[in-house]
Amino acid sequence: MASPNRNRRDFLKTSAGIGAAASVPYFFSQQKTLADESRSKNDRLPIGLIGAGGMGRGNMRSAAKWVDVVAIADPDEGRLRQANDQLSKGKADVYIDYQKILDRDDIKILHIATPDHWHTKPLIEAMRAGKDVYCEKPLTLTIDEGKQIRKVQEETGRIIQVGTQQRSTFHLFVKAMAIVNEGRLGRIHSVQAAIGGAPASGAIPVAEVPENLDWDRWLGPAPKVDYRKEGKKTNCHYEFRWWYEYSGGKLTDWGAHHVDIAKWALELNGQKEGPTSIGGTADHPVEFDQNGNPKQNDRYNTATAFKFDVAFPGNTKMVIRNDTDNGVLIEGDKGRIFVNRGKLVGAPVDALKDNPLPEDALSKVYKGLPMEENARAAHWANFLHCHKTQQEPISDVHSHMRMLNICHLAGISARLGGRTLKWDDGNEQIVGDEQANSMLSRPYREGYEING
Ligand SMILES: NC(=O)c1ccc[n+]([C@@H]2O[C@H](COP(=O)([O-])OP(=O)(O)OC[C@H]3O[C@@H](n4cnc5c(N)ncnc54)[C@H](O)[C@@H]3O)[C@@H](O)[C@H]2O)c1
Repeated sequence: MASPNRNRRDFLKTSAGIGAAASVPYFFSQQKTLADESRSKNDRLPIGLIGAGGMGRGNMRSAAKWVDVVAIADPDEGRLRQANDQLSKGKADVYIDYQKILDRDDIKILHIATPDHWHTKPLIEAMRAGKDVYCEKPLTLTIDEGKQIRKVQEETGRIIQVGTQQRSTFHLFVKAMAIVNEGRLGRIHSVQAAIGGAPASGAIPVAEVPENLDWDRWLGPAPKVDYRKEGKKTNCHYEFRWWYEYSGGKLTDWGAHHVDIAKWALELNGQKEGPTSIGGTADHPVEFDQNGNPKQNDRYNTATAFKFDVAFPGNTKMVIRNDTDNGVLIEGDKGRIFVNRGKLVGAPVDALKDNPLPEDALSKVYKGLPMEENARAAHWANFLHCHKTQQEPISDVHSHMRMLNICHLAGISARLGGRTLKWDDGNEQIVGDEQANSMLSRPYREGYEING
């Protein structure tokens, strides 16, 4: 992410090639953004936080200049207390059950930063309760959940920002997208998302549930299982990422970031249609049953290593892999660039010195929305602006689902031994493969069905 300590003038100077010579670009002009306006004391927005873990607390700190956290929900009372002290000087209302926040009329906006298996249900219920939501990525655990979210979003018209803040990282990812959008790579024929693999573990023993934790509620829609912990390894806080019951592993954890950028590049290049097939190889620490469920439930089970080839119409391809430099490679018939959270490189980037991008190049890919320097703050400013103006944010549910379908399909293929799946993008169905199609959704545990 961009360093919060660099001032705006330095940022402009080092953003080589973006309107370098002339006037100050729109996004860093003295003009106030709508999000800036809500810095005034009387204009701060009350917000509810659902999920007070590492990301929930970190995100609320990024938004602190605009919002007051007035209510927090988490099934872990220790985390509730900690978040209340850190974010609200102990003054927020705290709840085990997030429904209590949804019931409050004084709260119009929410942040959801629960584990992935707990995104879709509160998000849908929040939209039905009339809230606009900044929800962490990946929005879903299955392709079917994506259909449900899009349906309810269309019915309610609520504003949803997804926490893929790379879309608000101007000097790296947005600049890369501007290079693509201005045609500097020509026709893009291949993209690659390198996202690292998941760790493996040995058997993690069953442990006593911590006194502060409502384990049944933490599990929520997922199957009822024992709590496990040994050292840092657990099937609960943070480490949930390495269990298919609660996550898609790296394929969705980092896929939601880099596959998003790779797909955004294709779409800006005029290639809007989804994939036609996906297949490859994947290593797992466990085996899977007919339904794609892990046969052993005592250890991490998501893919430790993988390589997937994703085909698109027009002979365009995407590769998703774990085994090379984390980042996104975008290759066109005029040149190629590589971008990650630390660098944006390639001959087309060097060429900007002599042939800068037009002044509005970033703004065009950022839908003309106001910009802020720091990516995490910028992503919040984007959400708050869109809440106020009722516009579609930069990380909207539709673009998110178009790319997350690819990540989920990779996860299904992975659990089927890397089998190639043919994808009917229009109908969101896998063609001629009943077993794979049955993995487009998953059962919800009784009592935790979606009320939507
Ligand atoms: N955008 C990014 O770069 C980024 C980075 C890290 C994490 N994330 C995302 O943020 C989310 C949270 O990740 P984390 O690392 O903070 O995990 P975490 O385990 O530290 O925190 C999740 C919190 O949610 C709580 N929770 C569980 N069920 C809940 C429920 N029903 N209601 C309210 N709270 C509930 C847990 O008790 C926990 O405190 C994940 O979806 C993750 O993918 C995004």
